[in-house]
Amino acid sequence: MKTVISTLIVTALLSAVLGLMVMFFGWFNVSTTWKDPALVHWILATTSENSIKRRAEGIEVPPLGSEEQIRNGFRSFRAMCAGCHTPPGEDPTPMAQGLNPEAPDLAEEAKHMSPSELFWVIKHGIRMTGMPGWGLSHNDEQIWEMVSFILELPEMSLLDYLFLNSEVPLDEDDGHGHEH
Ligand code: HEC
Repeated sequence: MKTVISTLIVTALLSAVLGLMVMFFGWFNVSTTWKDPALVHWILATTSENSIKRRAEGIEVPPLGSEEQIRNGFRSFRAMCAGCHTPPGEDPTPMAQGLNPEAPDLAEEAKHMSPSELFWVIKHGIRMTGMPGWGLSHNDEQIWEMVSFILELPEMSLLDYLFLNSEVPLDEDDGHGHEH
C-alpha cells in the first residue's frame, strides 16, 4: 500500500514538473504556420466541440428564416465574416490562409451544428482560434439573423449567392453592430 501511494505521489509531482517545463521552456509551438500533430488537433477540437454543445443547451431558438433575417444576416456575413470564412466562389484571402485552425466553410457547419450552437459560437467566439465573439458589439436579434443566413447556405447555389450579393446594397453601417 505504501509503495502504491508513494508511486502515485511521485507520478503526480513528475507530471506537474513536466507541465511547468512545457509552460516555461517554450516547448509548445504556438505559431499558426506549424500544423498540429493529429493527437493535439483531436484534443483541441474535441474539447471545443463539447464545450460548445454544453453551453448551447437550453438556448431557445426564435422563429428564423424570414427574408429580412436572411438578408440582414448576409449583410453581416459579407462585412464581418467573409474575410475568414471564404464565401462561395471566392479564393481564400491572405488572412484566411494564415489561420490555424482554418475558418471552416459555414455551409458545412450548418449541416452538423444546431441553430443554438451556431448562435452560441457567434455570440461568444472560440478563444485562441481567431474566431471572435460578436456578442459585445451585436445584440441577440442580429446574431439570430446571422444564424438564419448560415442555415440557408447548404441549399444555396453559387448563382443564388451571387444574386443575393448583387441585390443587397453595401451599407455604411455594415459591421458596426448596434448603438450602445
Ligand atoms: C478573424 C477570422 C474570423 C472571422 C472574422 C470570423 N471567424 Fe468564424 N471562425 C474562425 C475560425 C478560425 C474558426 C475555427 C475555430 C475552430 O476550429 O475551433 C471559426 C469558426 C466558426 C464557426 C464554427 C464553429 C465550430 O465549432 O465549428 C462558426 C459558425 C463561425 N465561425 C461563424 C462566424 C461568423 C458568423 C462570423 C462573422 C460574424 C465569423 N465566424 C467571423 C475565424 C473567423
